[in-house]
Amino acid sequence: MGLRTFIAVELPEPARSDLAQVAGALAAAWPDGAVRWTRPEGIHLTLRFLGETEEGAVARLRALLDEVAQGARPLELVLGPVGGFPSVRRPRVIWVGLEGEGLTGLDRLQRQVEHGVRGLGWEREGRAFHPHLTLGRVRQEAPAPAPEWARAPVPRAAVPVRELVLVRSLLTPSGAEYSSLHRALLPT
Ligand code: 2AM
Repeated sequence: MGLRTFIAVELPEPARSDLAQVAGALAAAWPDGAVRWTRPEGIHLTLRFLGETEEGAVARLRALLDEVAQGARPLELVLGPVGGFPSVRRPRVIWVGLEGEGLTGLDRLQRQVEHGVRGLGWEREGRAFHPHLTLGRVRQEAPAPAPEWARAPVPRAAVPVRELVLVRSLLTPSGAEYSSLHRALLPT
Protein backbone atom coordinates (compact mmCIF):
# COMPACT_ATOMS: atom_id res chain seq x y z
CA MET A 1 0.00 0.00 0.00
CA GLY A 2 1.24 3.49 -0.78
CA LEU A 3 1.42 6.67 1.23
CA ARG A 4 -0.14 10.07 0.81
CA THR A 5 2.55 12.74 0.79
CA PHE A 6 3.35 16.34 -0.01
CA ILE A 7 6.37 18.65 0.04
CA ALA A 8 6.14 21.64 2.37
CA VAL A 9 7.83 24.29 4.45
CA GLU A 10 6.98 24.27 8.16
CA LEU A 11 6.17 27.35 10.21
CA PRO A 12 8.01 28.58 13.28
CA GLU A 13 6.60 30.30 16.31
CA PRO A 14 5.37 33.01 16.57
CA ALA A 15 3.92 32.76 13.04
CA ARG A 16 1.96 29.67 14.04
CA SER A 17 0.30 31.22 17.07
CA ASP A 18 -0.30 34.45 15.14
CA LEU A 19 -2.18 32.39 12.55
CA ALA A 20 -4.21 30.71 15.27
CA GLN A 21 -5.20 34.17 16.50
CA VAL A 22 -6.11 35.34 13.00
CA ALA A 23 -8.24 32.19 12.52
CA GLY A 24 -9.93 32.91 15.85
CA ALA A 25 -10.75 36.46 14.73
CA LEU A 26 -12.06 35.25 11.35
CA ALA A 27 -14.20 32.57 12.98
CA ALA A 28 -16.22 35.33 14.65
CA ALA A 29 -17.40 36.49 11.20
CA TRP A 30 -18.51 33.02 10.06
CA PRO A 31 -21.52 31.06 11.27
CA ASP A 32 -20.69 28.25 13.68
CA GLY A 33 -19.81 25.05 11.81
CA ALA A 34 -19.51 26.74 8.38
CA VAL A 35 -15.72 26.34 8.26
CA ARG A 36 -13.45 23.45 9.17
CA TRP A 37 -10.55 25.36 10.73
CA THR A 38 -7.06 23.89 10.40
CA ARG A 39 -5.37 22.89 13.65
CA PRO A 40 -2.58 25.47 14.20
CA GLU A 41 0.08 22.73 14.37
CA GLY A 42 -1.14 21.46 11.00
CA ILE A 43 -0.63 24.74 9.12
CA HIS A 44 2.22 24.60 6.60
CA LEU A 45 3.26 26.05 3.26
CA THR A 46 2.71 23.40 0.60
CA LEU A 47 5.11 23.48 -2.35
CA ARG A 48 3.74 20.37 -4.03
CA PHE A 49 0.97 17.96 -3.15
CA LEU A 50 2.05 14.49 -4.32
CA GLY A 51 -0.90 12.38 -3.19
CA GLU A 52 -0.56 8.64 -3.62
CA THR A 53 3.14 7.79 -3.28
CA GLU A 54 4.65 4.31 -3.53
CA GLU A 55 6.95 3.33 -0.68
CA GLY A 56 9.67 2.79 -3.25
CA ALA A 57 9.46 6.40 -4.42
CA VAL A 58 10.23 7.83 -0.98
CA ALA A 59 14.01 7.35 -1.34
CA ARG A 60 13.93 9.10 -4.72
CA LEU A 61 11.91 11.98 -3.25
CA ARG A 62 14.43 12.30 -0.40
CA ALA A 63 17.26 12.54 -2.91
CA LEU A 64 15.34 15.08 -4.96
CA LEU A 65 14.70 17.31 -1.93
CA ASP A 66 18.38 17.09 -0.95
CA GLU A 67 19.43 18.08 -4.45
CA VAL A 68 17.02 21.01 -4.73
CA ALA A 69 17.91 22.21 -1.21
CA GLN A 70 21.65 22.02 -1.95
CA GLY A 71 21.26 24.46 -4.83
CA ALA A 72 19.30 26.99 -2.75
CA ARG A 73 19.88 29.46 0.07
CA PRO A 74 17.66 30.22 3.11
CA LEU A 75 14.75 32.54 2.28
CA GLU A 76 12.93 35.16 4.33
CA LEU A 77 9.16 35.48 4.04
CA VAL A 78 6.53 37.21 6.19
CA LEU A 79 2.82 36.61 6.68
CA GLY A 80 0.63 38.54 4.22
CA PRO A 81 -3.08 39.37 4.13
CA VAL A 82 -6.10 37.04 4.36
CA GLY A 83 -7.56 35.72 1.10
CA GLY A 84 -9.95 33.15 -0.30
CA PHE A 85 -9.85 30.58 -3.09
CA PRO A 86 -11.40 30.95 -5.57
CA SER A 87 -12.31 34.41 -4.25
CA VAL A 88 -13.07 36.30 -1.04
CA ARG A 89 -16.73 36.57 -2.11
CA ARG A 90 -17.15 32.81 -2.59
CA PRO A 91 -14.33 31.21 -0.69
CA ARG A 92 -13.87 27.47 -0.44
CA VAL A 93 -10.42 27.83 1.11
CA ILE A 94 -9.56 30.56 3.63
CA TRP A 95 -5.88 31.39 3.70
CA VAL A 96 -3.14 33.80 4.70
CA GLY A 97 -0.71 34.80 1.96
CA LEU A 98 3.05 35.20 2.06
CA GLU A 99 5.13 38.23 1.21
CA GLY A 100 8.74 39.28 1.48
CA GLU A 101 12.02 39.31 -0.40
CA GLY A 102 12.15 35.50 -0.39
CA LEU A 103 9.12 35.10 -2.69
CA THR A 104 11.16 34.98 -5.89
CA GLY A 105 13.42 32.35 -4.39
CA LEU A 106 10.39 30.40 -3.22
CA ASP A 107 8.97 30.39 -6.76
CA ARG A 108 12.29 29.11 -7.99
CA LEU A 109 12.35 26.35 -5.37
CA GLN A 110 8.81 25.37 -6.27
CA ARG A 111 9.65 25.18 -9.99
CA GLN A 112 12.64 22.97 -9.24
CA VAL A 113 10.52 20.71 -7.06
CA GLU A 114 7.86 20.56 -9.79
CA HIS A 115 10.43 19.73 -12.45
CA GLY A 116 11.96 17.09 -10.19
CA VAL A 117 8.75 15.29 -9.32
CA ARG A 118 7.76 15.20 -12.97
CA GLY A 119 11.07 13.49 -13.61
CA LEU A 120 9.95 10.91 -11.02
CA GLY A 121 6.71 10.27 -12.87
CA TRP A 122 4.19 12.68 -11.35
CA GLU A 123 1.71 14.35 -13.68
CA ARG A 124 2.14 18.05 -14.33
CA GLU A 125 0.39 20.22 -11.71
CA GLY A 126 -2.24 22.11 -13.70
CA ARG A 127 -2.75 24.91 -11.20
CA ALA A 128 -0.41 27.88 -10.88
CA PHE A 129 1.57 28.12 -7.64
CA HIS A 130 -0.06 30.53 -5.17
CA PRO A 131 1.91 30.27 -1.95
CA HIS A 132 -0.60 30.28 0.91
CA LEU A 133 -1.28 28.96 4.39
CA THR A 134 -4.69 27.33 4.63
CA LEU A 135 -6.56 28.37 7.77
CA GLY A 136 -9.84 26.69 6.96
CA ARG A 137 -12.08 25.02 4.41
CA VAL A 138 -15.64 26.22 3.92
CA ARG A 139 -18.30 23.52 3.98
CA GLN A 140 -20.11 23.08 0.66
CA GLU A 141 -23.44 24.43 1.76
CA ALA A 142 -22.16 27.42 3.76
CA PRO A 143 -22.72 30.87 2.21
CA ALA A 144 -20.01 33.46 2.83
CA PRO A 145 -20.57 36.50 5.03
CA ALA A 146 -20.01 39.98 3.52
CA PRO A 147 -16.48 40.21 2.00
CA GLU A 148 -15.27 42.36 4.89
CA TRP A 149 -14.79 39.04 6.73
CA ALA A 150 -11.32 38.90 5.16
CA ARG A 151 -10.17 42.27 6.52
CA ALA A 152 -8.68 40.87 9.71
CA PRO A 153 -5.24 42.29 10.52
CA VAL A 154 -2.37 39.81 10.19
CA PRO A 155 0.88 40.40 12.12
CA ARG A 156 3.86 40.48 9.76
CA ALA A 157 5.44 37.50 11.50
CA ALA A 158 8.62 36.06 10.00
CA VAL A 159 8.41 32.83 8.03
CA PRO A 160 12.02 31.81 7.42
CA VAL A 161 12.49 29.01 4.89
CA ARG A 162 15.31 26.82 6.18
CA GLU A 163 14.34 23.36 5.01
CA LEU A 164 12.11 21.41 2.65
CA VAL A 165 10.06 18.70 4.28
CA LEU A 166 8.58 15.57 2.76
CA VAL A 167 5.39 15.12 4.77
CA ARG A 168 3.22 12.07 5.15
CA SER A 169 -0.48 12.80 5.54
CA LEU A 170 -2.49 10.10 7.25
CA LEU A 171 -6.22 10.59 6.87
CA THR A 172 -8.07 9.75 10.06
CA PRO A 173 -11.70 10.30 11.10
CA SER A 174 -10.58 13.30 13.17
CA GLY A 175 -8.61 14.89 10.30
CA ALA A 176 -5.23 14.56 8.59
CA GLU A 177 -2.23 13.69 10.75
CA TYR A 178 1.13 14.84 9.45
CA SER A 179 4.54 13.32 10.04
CA SER A 180 7.82 14.16 8.38
CA LEU A 181 9.52 11.52 6.23
CA HIS A 182 12.52 13.66 5.36
CA ARG A 183 14.01 17.10 5.99
CA ALA A 184 16.39 18.72 3.51
CA LEU A 185 18.29 21.71 4.95
CA LEU A 186 19.02 24.72 2.76
CA PRO A 187 22.74 25.41 3.21
CA THR A 188 23.61 28.78 4.76
P1 2AM B 1 -4.24 23.63 0.65
O1 2AM B 1 -3.44 24.18 1.77
O2 2AM B 1 -4.46 24.60 -0.43
O3 2AM B 1 -5.49 22.93 1.08
C1 2AM B 1 -1.94 18.63 2.37
O4 2AM B 1 -3.22 18.19 2.03
C2 2AM B 1 -1.58 19.88 1.64
O5 2AM B 1 -1.52 19.65 0.24
C3 2AM B 1 -2.57 21.00 1.87
O6 2AM B 1 -1.85 22.11 2.30
C4 2AM B 1 -3.22 21.23 0.52
O7 2AM B 1 -3.28 22.53 0.07
C5 2AM B 1 -2.27 20.61 -0.45
N1 2AM B 1 -2.99 20.09 -1.60
C6 2AM B 1 -2.85 20.51 -2.87
N2 2AM B 1 -3.60 19.78 -3.69
C7 2AM B 1 -4.27 18.89 -2.93
C8 2AM B 1 -5.22 17.87 -3.22
N3 2AM B 1 -5.62 17.59 -4.47
N4 2AM B 1 -5.72 17.18 -2.19
C9 2AM B 1 -5.33 17.44 -0.92
N5 2AM B 1 -4.43 18.36 -0.60
C10 2AM B 1 -3.90 19.10 -1.59
